[in-house]
Amino acid sequence: MTVRGLDDWTFMVSTSINGISVSLTANLLVIATLVLTLLGDFAVSHLLSPLRSIPGPFLARYTNLYRLYHTTRGSFHLHITRLHKTYGPDVRIGPNTVDIDYPEPIKVVFGTTTKQKAEWKKTGFYLSSSTRVKETGEIMYNLFSQIDPELHAKWKRPVAKYYSAAAVARVESKMDEVVDMLCQELDKRVSGNNGQGGIDLGKWIVYYTWDVIGNVTFSQPLGYLREGKDFDGTLLTADKTLDYFAFITSIPWLDYVFDKNRIMRIMRIAPPSFNHIVGLSVGHIMKRFQEDQSTEQKNRDADYLDMFHEARQKWPEVVDDAMVVRYTLSNMIAGADTTSSIIKAAIYYSMMAEWGGKS
Ligand code: HEM
Repeated sequence: MTVRGLDDWTFMVSTSINGISVSLTANLLVIATLVLTLLGDFAVSHLLSPLRSIPGPFLARYTNLYRLYHTTRGSFHLHITRLHKTYGPDVRIGPNTVDIDYPEPIKVVFGTTTKQKAEWKKTGFYLSSSTRVKETGEIMYNLFSQIDPELHAKWKRPVAKYYSAAAVARVESKMDEVVDMLCQELDKRVSGNNGQGGIDLGKWIVYYTWDVIGNVTFSQPLGYLREGKDFDGTLLTADKTLDYFAFITSIPWLDYVFDKNRIMRIMRIAPPSFNHIVGLSVGHIMKRFQEDQSTEQKNRDADYLDMFHEARQKWPEVVDDAMVVRYTLSNMIAGADTTSSIIKAAIYYSMMAEWGGKS
């Protein structure tokens, strides 16, 4: 068998279309160089990568597009379970990404000692959960999205103690208030209806967890249980923003193309973001400021905003107004969808177990 070389090919092209032969040859050379470079890159990353011995789907070894594709289908959680069944406890799901399905390394990876932090740095994965301030264009990082280990430690130190089990117990009464509100609303809608006509429990759990976060952070439920709906569109936007995160965190630099980019924002074609929640937080902080100015005596248990103000007194060199906004924002972003997912899963699997797997 004769393999036709690049020269033969360019010769054929140049003889058949005489006038443009030179540019065609040049283009072919550029394309060939690019292809060879890419192949070389792939070969090198395949042969030299410390992850090369970890099994996984063929494409995932070379490109994060594999993960991005499965994430956009909305079923990566099921896909990854199948991959573990096929490949075992460690699966390479990207050129530099491994998924593990055993809990032992959690303490090491999320460890808080200086040594662990130096060895297990946060990657670009986290950056997209920052927000671009509309007015100034500045990117605003929060506790979750700050990946610089020194800055992260500096920001976290003033508030870390407020997330201990003992500190969380201080706001338990505020959670109980919202549990009561949820029970009343469900009673009204289910029992009050003689048990006729179902409700979408998933939706009510989401209203509940957002109201809990509002109550523990600002001593004010955000109002979803009272209204019985996503009255200000925050929940839909948060949902879409999390969908965007799921997609963009597979290839984090794409966030600078789609979102953290003035042109996209000016043209109003940027993806949904947590900007609205920044506005909500700032509104509550301003309200508290006005309350503090008023002479009327307030009688309520401390909430997270009080704790953040306390942190501002103790750590004035770190905690300013913007940092208080960051802290409240971290609660809002980190505390509502996580808890609603867990509660929904717990109820779903308990019911499935109760009914022997029949839905
Ligand atoms: C079941 C519910 C929750 C789950 C599964 C969960 C999970 C996590 C995980 C895995 C992280 C670490 C992220 C990382 O560094 O890679 C994290 C961070 C964080 N979570 Fe939660 N979380 C939950 C509820 C909450 C709640 C209710 C709050 C607030 C009231 C909260 C506030 C935060 C904050 C502020 C961070 C950032 C901490 C830091 O970067 O140092 N989370 N959460």
